[in-house]
Amino acid sequence: MARPFRRTSAFARASAFVALAGCGIGDGDLETVDPAAAPLHPTYEAHIAPLMETYCTACHAEGEGGEGGEVRYDGCKWVVRNWSGLRSTALDGRSMPPPTAWVLSAADRLTLERWWRDGHVCP
Ligand code: HEC
Repeated sequence: MARPFRRTSAFARASAFVALAGCGIGDGDLETVDPAAAPLHPTYEAHIAPLMETYCTACHAEGEGGEGGEVRYDGCKWVVRNWSGLRSTALDGRSMPPPTAWVLSAADRLTLERWWRDGHVCP
């Protein structure tokens, strides 16, 4: 009796480990992400605008009448102006995009961090 039970619990532990490891792949800490996974010097047009389109502008753009539309990310100057909100909700926190939308990968967050650190130059 003891043996099958042990096997089951070992399986449960292994499954839990796999589940946790699985979470870590797309959503890891910036400290652990491969530095080569993000461009060294991201530009707005090539890197940041596509990220905003993927993750944010469906709800945060001109003409998006809902609550999210009050905060815009559909243009470089908007991204700069609303950076503190982006930082708190999508980089430091995980409340944006909402759980129904895609989650930013660690590489995407690193791209945003590097663009900001480089001086967040708009075209
Ligand atoms: C599916 C729609 C949707 C997407 C995609 C989305 N948001 Fe939001 N966002 C909302 C809504 C609705 C609100 C207002 C209600 C709330 O605060 O939850 C909001 C509020 C906010 C706010 C202000 C409120 C706060 O919590 O500080 C910020 C900043 C924000 N979003 C940033 C972002 C960023 C950055 C992205 C992309 C990484 C993003 N959102 C993607 C719907 C969305």
